[in-house]
Amino acid sequence: MEVTADRLLDLIRPFKGNDGATIPVLQAIQTNLGYLPPESFALIEQELGIPASKAYGVATFYAQFRTTPVGKHLIKVCDGTACHVRGSVTILTAIRDHLDLKDTDTTTDKVFTVQEVACLGCCSLAPVMMVGETTYGSLSFEKSREILDGYRAKEA
Ligand code: FES
Repeated sequence: MEVTADRLLDLIRPFKGNDGATIPVLQAIQTNLGYLPPESFALIEQELGIPASKAYGVATFYAQFRTTPVGKHLIKVCDGTACHVRGSVTILTAIRDHLDLKDTDTTTDKVFTVQEVACLGCCSLAPVMMVGETTYGSLSFEKSREILDGYRAKEA
């Protein structure tokens, strides 16, 4: 999806005059576009008076923000304590291998992006991943592969 300046301005302008708009405007852009396009920061400075360097600093400080495009399905693999002790690292590695991800987090067909995250808040289901807004628990590598193959099949 191409992101135009007009689209970004539509997302940024509602925050004019708001004190403390830095995080909310970044969240609004990311919620709508899936990431923060590089041109966002100059437009935030132009429209809201928040220095681009400050907005970029916030965007890169918090793990919730992404500055690169994501695939259609964002996979969040939890590596919080409960998931870690139940093998999340092995599952994450296996998922990355299965999706043929080497130096990148997004598949070449832009269907999947894999992200390692801290606790997803459902530790009793550990190990856990989310695909989009759907949570999958008690994962094994085989189970995670079946889930992702199901998403892949729907794309075919
Ligand atoms: S540690 Fe993974 S859901 Fe809490």
